[in-house]
Amino acid sequence: MGTLAGKRIVAGICGGIAVYKAASVVSKLVQAGADVRVIMTRAACEFIAPMTFETLSHHRVLTDLWDEPLAHVELAYSADLFVLMPATYNIIGKLAHGIADDLLTTTLAATRAPVLVIPAMESQMYSNPILQENKKKLTELGYRFLEPEKGRLASGREGIGRFPSEEKILTAIEEILTEHALLKGHRVLVTAGPTREMLDPMRCITNKSSGKMGYALAEQARNFGADSVHLISGPTQLEPPAGVEYVRVESAEEMKNAVLERFAQFDLILMAAAVADWRPKKVFSQKLKKSGARELALVLEKTPDILAELGRRKKKSQILVGFAAETEKLLEHAREKLKEKNLDIVVVNDITAPGAGPEVETNIVTLLYRDGKSETLPCLPKHEVAKEILRRVAQLL
Ligand code: CTP
Repeated sequence: MGTLAGKRIVAGICGGIAVYKAASVVSKLVQAGADVRVIMTRAACEFIAPMTFETLSHHRVLTDLWDEPLAHVELAYSADLFVLMPATYNIIGKLAHGIADDLLTTTLAATRAPVLVIPAMESQMYSNPILQENKKKLTELGYRFLEPEKGRLASGREGIGRFPSEEKILTAIEEILTEHALLKGHRVLVTAGPTREMLDPMRCITNKSSGKMGYALAEQARNFGADSVHLISGPTQLEPPAGVEYVRVESAEEMKNAVLERFAQFDLILMAAAVADWRPKKVFSQKLKKSGARELALVLEKTPDILAELGRRKKKSQILVGFAAETEKLLEHAREKLKEKNLDIVVVNDITAPGAGPEVETNIVTLLYRDGKSETLPCLPKHEVAKEILRRVAQLL
């Protein structure tokens, strides 16, 4: 339990029957060396007296916004992690809608620490689409949720909504604390999506990249505690992750300018964009008419190779990760790119394999390192692939 020692964990205790189990979690966290500060909502105090948490945490329990005018700010800034348990329908709704009407919600509004939400409630409340919508919104904003378990509920009914086991909660807390420290002190630049090379005002050359891999990398880099994450993206249908600086570009040329302008300020650069290699040599200012012509021959010229340029400019302190979408001779091509573009890692995938490629939610990647070693990850959802890549990259940093 070394990860918990000395960490300040703010336990936000809400009014649900599982509050007595939350008391036991607080006790375990304190035993593991964490500095636990407890905030209870009014409803929580209806279930259990603050004295219980005061005794377990060895600190005064805070319940009222008006007791100490700056308590919320002090806790918000000093926390390494917030744990909301049991998270009620009400607190999840308030959080998702920016309501700060008591000490707990006001403190949450002021923090940048990761927040672990542990819901526990009757199954029909948990499956209510309003709660699910709020949960989705909060997840997109970076809040972590631990799923409740199925089984006997306080009402005597069976269903989903049980407070998870202490063991699961402690593992989740440890994982978040470990992850959140991985990219602390680092600045991360990610590119994503396709580029669009115009032929005339209507037509363009582009590719099938969805941007999902790059967006997942930016989102996870934020979750891993990076000081700053910038995402430079070509045209995609995706929403930029919250808390990430977003730059939208169209062409390879625009992406190059956006990347080169910022490159020197970052120590980790992940070039996940599927940059077009070719663009029409002549761009027509008016829409091309087909009148009379039987054929149209296009002359294409090469776009700038952004990554190769970064490889030339790279300093020792910078880690450069390239991506290679291949259809054959994966490792051979990846090895060439690693060498030619002076990369630290190439992430290569076979876009024709089932479970990999631009249009699916999963990916199967192989990481190739400078020392010639390679490692193939199993088929995973793209956000999990992003985590695995960042865990490995963080070791190089
Ligand atoms: N890349 C880039 N600029 C380009 C083309 C590619 O920065 N004009 C980057 C991509 O973002 C990716 C890596 O280079 O990280 C490899 O891209 P890929 O298209 O697989 O390789 P290419 O070098 O373009 O070679 P080829 O298309 O011949 O496989």
